Amino acid sequence: MSALINAFNEQFLLEIIKQPDSTQAAEIIKQADQVRTQTLGATVQLRGLIEFSSYCRNNCAYCGLRRENRSLPRYRLTPIEIIETAAHGIALGYRTIVLQSGEDLFFTGKMLTEIVKEIKKLGAVVTLSVGEREVKDYEAWRKAGAERYLMRHETADPVLYQKLHPGQTLSKRLSLLQALKQLDYQVGTGFMVGLPGQTPATLLADLQLTKNLAAEMVGIGPFIPHLATPLKEYPAGTTSLTCLMIALTRLALPYALIPATTALASINSQGRELGLAAGANVVMPNLTPWKYRADYQLYPDKAISGAEDGETRQKMIEKITALGREVSDTSGHHPLWLTDSRDDGENNI
Ligand code: 5AD
Ligand code: SF4
Repeated sequence: MSALINAFNEQFLLEIIKQPDSTQAAEIIKQADQVRTQTLGATVQLRGLIEFSSYCRNNCAYCGLRRENRSLPRYRLTPIEIIETAAHGIALGYRTIVLQSGEDLFFTGKMLTEIVKEIKKLGAVVTLSVGEREVKDYEAWRKAGAERYLMRHETADPVLYQKLHPGQTLSKRLSLLQALKQLDYQVGTGFMVGLPGQTPATLLADLQLTKNLAAEMVGIGPFIPHLATPLKEYPAGTTSLTCLMIALTRLALPYALIPATTALASINSQGRELGLAAGANVVMPNLTPWKYRADYQLYPDKAISGAEDGETRQKMIEKITALGREVSDTSGHHPLWLTDSRDDGENNI
């Protein structure tokens, strides 16, 4: 465990979070980069992301996919399209396929089980990110071979959580994250930076919650206002505070898989590089078929590369190499998850 949360008191952390542009914050970012080098080396994990359905039953106040946004054309890939897209990604060299969607019950537990099985046959690691579902579904998908599950807690303030997520509660979200842990998934949580109503104390609580959960993966991105949401008038989160929260998370969880998020790349053309220099070690290029890509609109101006997927991958590898880092050719599991219950290191599920 890192020195940080132990050795520095909460007041110190709050002061840093209040001053993301200070020299102290820059020092924390440097430390986080060093810790990442010590624990995980120079490697960056690439994950191929498939956004397979933009239908969502939820109404999150910040998100362009919220059910009340009727101006958004919705799409669903067919199971065959999903599997073909995954095969395409694997052929390009991706070793992890991330299946992400809104909470779309059209895809039943059984359908997703079959899709996971097919992608496992292709030899990839499967990460699911389909929101709050029944624990028995999580269990079936794990049995089918899915190794990772991403579901951000979004904000650790239960009152703010309820305001932002009508009809949902933070306690339900946390109990599902615990259930996923118990099912032996590598579990990803995370939060947005700069949400309306968020304070430095909220961000400290986000950090503590993430640490207490011992999350294997942590996605942190700036809030970006979407015009078709009730939060359209609020300012976006900043690059500096987002990078600082990435860095503090790295210090709190030295082995975590932390992406340099697309949201960060969307508010800053150097966002990916800055995230990678602040403790991040994962990038998730988008493999969603072109005809749908612009419609997965969590937030506006999402960084969408104009290039063909192979070229995007190649450019990403070049960018990463230029930073003195290297693209991993392993499955990219969390190192402690591997040693916890397995002996041979890879792919033995
Ligand atoms: N700005 C930034 N991030 C957003 N997400 C959803 N809407 C927005 C927005 N407007 C994030 C949420 C969700 C993830 C998939 O995208 O944190 O968990
Ligand atoms: Fe749906 Fe996720 Fe958007 Fe919420 S954040 S509306 S659950 S897609």
